[in-house]
Amino acid sequence: MKIEVFASQTHVTEKDIRGKDCVVIDTLRATSTIITALANGCAQVIPVEEVGQATRLRASVGGDTMAVLGGERGGQKIPGFDLGNSPLEYGPEHIYGKTLILTTTNGTLAIGKAETASRTYIGAMINATSIALALLKTETDVVILCAGMEGKFAVEDALTAGYIIHCLREQSPGIPIETGDLGYVCEVLYETSQDDLLTAVQNGRGFEQLHALGMEQDVAYCMQRDTVPALPLVQDNRIILVRQ
Ligand code: MLT
Repeated sequence: MKIEVFASQTHVTEKDIRGKDCVVIDTLRATSTIITALANGCAQVIPVEEVGQATRLRASVGGDTMAVLGGERGGQKIPGFDLGNSPLEYGPEHIYGKTLILTTTNGTLAIGKAETASRTYIGAMINATSIALALLKTETDVVILCAGMEGKFAVEDALTAGYIIHCLREQSPGIPIETGDLGYVCEVLYETSQDDLLTAVQNGRGFEQLHALGMEQDVAYCMQRDTVPALPLVQDNRIILVRQ
């Protein structure tokens, strides 16, 4: 099984992804938020790139009784939106049974970039083992697409990619897993940092942005391993939970 990790959506082409299984990662925080919302009963998540698209779409999915607008720019809630991009905001009291229309700076762009994949999963630290088990069921070649930050590599996504590769090896010792160079670096980074993931992310710009906004709790939540064992899949531009 071949695993290729890409540092951000600007590093990947349609051809790299076509026909493969793809895992999109934006650990801080878009994919952690999507996984949490769906695990808390959200009916579906529609990722969109632009704020205007999100507000127009709300009317077509039943207005504000059926849909919640969520997302961020610069890490902060978008004016006029219901919720920001903190997974801690997405409890059942806000999201149960609703459609979440989500736009974020990097994460939702990366999800859009994966549309030629045969299957696209939404991954993070909090569901990494569920992702690894799903990938092992099909044994198709895999692209792990890190959202990164503004087109650049982000340490928290590298740690998550490394942990997914680590889980793949642990869950299936008999299957040879080939990684490219970046996959190898991510795995080594994870294995050398696994005892203190919070310290490892503190050197990154993603952490710095959230720290400046007083949102360190989000970082602690997002860096936990396998606390939300859910498996979100993109289907027809929507993200839903699938049975494992
Ligand atoms: C993004 O998509 O850029 C992020 O998830 C940013 C954030 O809210 O932390």
